[in-house]
Amino acid sequence: MKAIYLEAIDKPFTLIEKEKPVAGPGEAIVQVKAAALNHRDVWIQYGRYFTKEYPAILGSDCAGIVTEVGEGVDAAWVGKEVIVDPSSDWGDNPRAQAVNFKVLGMPEDGAFAEYVKVRAANLYEKPDHLTFEEAAALPLGGVTAYRAMFTKCGIQPGDRVLVTGAGGGVALFAIQFAAAIGAEVWVTSGSDEKIGLAIDLGAKGGVNYKNENWGKELKAIAKGFDVIVDGAAGEGFVQLVKLAKPGGRIGMYGGTTGKIGHLNPAEIFWKQLAIHGSTMGTAQDFAEMVRLVDEHGIRPVVDIVFPLDQTEEAMRYMEAGKQFGKIVIKVG
Ligand SMILES: NC(=O)c1ccc[n+]([C@@H]2O[C@H](COP(=O)([O-])OP(=O)(O)OC[C@H]3O[C@@H](n4cnc5c(N)ncnc54)[C@H](OP(=O)(O)O)[C@@H]3O)[C@@H](O)[C@H]2O)c1
Repeated sequence: MKAIYLEAIDKPFTLIEKEKPVAGPGEAIVQVKAAALNHRDVWIQYGRYFTKEYPAILGSDCAGIVTEVGEGVDAAWVGKEVIVDPSSDWGDNPRAQAVNFKVLGMPEDGAFAEYVKVRAANLYEKPDHLTFEEAAALPLGGVTAYRAMFTKCGIQPGDRVLVTGAGGGVALFAIQFAAAIGAEVWVTSGSDEKIGLAIDLGAKGGVNYKNENWGKELKAIAKGFDVIVDGAAGEGFVQLVKLAKPGGRIGMYGGTTGKIGHLNPAEIFWKQLAIHGSTMGTAQDFAEMVRLVDEHGIRPVVDIVFPLDQTEEAMRYMEAGKQFGKIVIKVG
């Protein structure tokens, strides 16, 4: 089969021929129709991810057709169109993952290939209203947004919600999910055009975080927020604490812009804020996320589709940060 190979840190992604995987007990083989990029893949290429096991076949997100199942797996899965929960070995504490928690695509071979071996327990039927490309865009970003916003921050209809970095893969799901349940959604972005696109998706408005006084601008137009979902951290996080309403919840799932600036503790304790770190999600989070997508007919936003042999170009496109929505790899 064809697969995309990352030999070592700082090497380009290259197309190789590799043996097709075989399903062991409890496993299934999925013929990948489409896979999607996450910022994780770029971090791994640069050696900036906590797991460092090279060479590797990356790819945490995919949609495809089950071609084979191993011992102990219901044969009815064969031929089904599926998406795959990329999380394995979460463990038995729903509050946090266990030490051997794994994400598909390092250390185990991922979905940038014609076939991928996954645990059968991670298979979910592809929502009918989605194409393979849309479905491939959903798993990692979708579950991360869902857990941060619903499981951790307890978002409710009518809440005023801020999603930072509207153009990001996770952020877009946060906007769509919050709008779907009837929250009032505001965004930040480094691009006015992306703010406009977020409004088309259901956001009420937004400000450009490149403006010097973006925090004050946002406070003036949107007042405070019940829930803030952030993947950027950095200096901007100080503004998020100021923008949270008393009793507000901040769900933080990433740190794209680095270490958090100088926070004023009184703003956190006096306002009784809850700051929740959040990473991906449990099997229950994943199942609830898929149900939400099904119920509301939510369609992931796909910015661009690359063929498998242009995965390296797709990574550079992600790094440039011009996308609005997921970057998808069409396989086969
Ligand atoms: N904990 C987890 O489970 C988990 C899961 C997925 C991702 N992550 C992390 O979350 C982050 C985003 O991941 P992703 O896959 O969604 O990446 P992505 O699609 O590449 O999005 C990154 C986004 O960051 C935004 N951004 C850049 N500078 C910003 C700033 N100063 N203030 C606010 N936003 C800023 C940009 O928004 P605009 O384009 O709108 O300017 C950009 O779209 C990454 O650090 C990733 O490693 C964590």
